[in-house]
Amino acid sequence: MIVKGICTGENIGLPIIKEIDLSKVIGDIDIPIKYAALNHRDLWITKGLYPSISAGFIMGSDGVGIIDDKRFVLYPAKEWGSSDTFQSKHFEVLGVPSHGTFTTNVVCNPSALYTVPDYLTDAEAAAFPLAGLTAYRALFTKGDLKRGDKVLITGIGGGVALFAAQFALAVGADVYFTTGYSWKMDKALDLGLKYGVNYNDPEWSKELSRKIDGFDLIIDGAGGDMMQHYLKIINYGGKIVSYGGSQGKMNNLSPQLIFWKQASIIGSTMGSPYEFGEMIKFLEQHKIHPIIDSIYDFQDYRLAFHKMEEGSQFGKILLKL
Ligand SMILES: NC(=O)c1ccc[n+]([C@@H]2O[C@H](COP(=O)([O-])OP(=O)(O)OC[C@H]3O[C@@H](n4cnc5c(N)ncnc54)[C@H](OP(=O)(O)O)[C@@H]3O)[C@@H](O)[C@H]2O)c1
Repeated sequence: MIVKGICTGENIGLPIIKEIDLSKVIGDIDIPIKYAALNHRDLWITKGLYPSISAGFIMGSDGVGIIDDKRFVLYPAKEWGSSDTFQSKHFEVLGVPSHGTFTTNVVCNPSALYTVPDYLTDAEAAAFPLAGLTAYRALFTKGDLKRGDKVLITGIGGGVALFAAQFALAVGADVYFTTGYSWKMDKALDLGLKYGVNYNDPEWSKELSRKIDGFDLIIDGAGGDMMQHYLKIINYGGKIVSYGGSQGKMNNLSPQLIFWKQASIIGSTMGSPYEFGEMIKFLEQHKIHPIIDSIYDFQDYRLAFHKMEEGSQFGKILLKL
């Protein structure tokens, strides 16, 4: 089967639409894709900032498709393995190094398909797999979030961050946030989050300290120079869960703050198929609607990548196949 897909180009920086022969891809099912969603990972790949990138592979980890009038989403990875604690050595995210979802058809095994809850639209379904799964594991499996906990979610405009915020609100946590944009602050407050600060303000962590008496949990996708401040505002015994490092190395971490506060810095990556199933049940139980920023036609994919690059989204950026 020949399909058109948005692929890594010879020159990695420029994704291109290419015809790809899927006849050699192993899988029993061919699922026609209706919508796919971008993740920051797709942007990293176009910059060459991801391991195992090679040219001519279809990008994309999130997708929803229809088989015999039934709607399915794909588990956005492969080969998680048998441990609940961490992924196997063969684990890979869908979409580079193997073919992904930015295409009209995906070949996969039935075990990769999960039924979409009825209350979601097709577009909403495409929005949740990778970001929702990452948020679910970071918050609940790793962060052990409970009703009444005070949680800080950094960079609220991001895909993972917004799912984390919606999930935390659903269990009755007090949710606070950082962002780089005042208009995103207004949108986050409209969602029911309690208070936010702008991470570009040098006084942001002091402002949070003045307003809030410490956080039980911090969910962070940035790292960089922010982490030293998280240690100042985390409670004794609190947890900082790191799922991303878009701001680079964590500098100036104080061991004294880590050991004296008995704080934990915990890594988290996506999640297992079991957690994916639990996350879908959680979405349905709380009737959570993923937040969609924009939907682009397939051929306008460069506009979608550009939007993610400039960081002007609030929620998920989708492609309509
Ligand atoms: N480990 C995993 O399994 C996993 C899974 C998913 C994502 N990730 C990683 O997590 C990161 C976010 O991914 P995503 O798909 O959610 O990206 P995204 O939708 O493009 O969002 C990126 C967000 O980063 C935030 N940000 C930028 N500078 C920041 C800063 N100095 N401090 C705090 N936040 C800042 C922005 O928040 P504002 O717009 O509010 O300013 C922006 O919305 C990426 O690095 C990605 O590779 C890892």
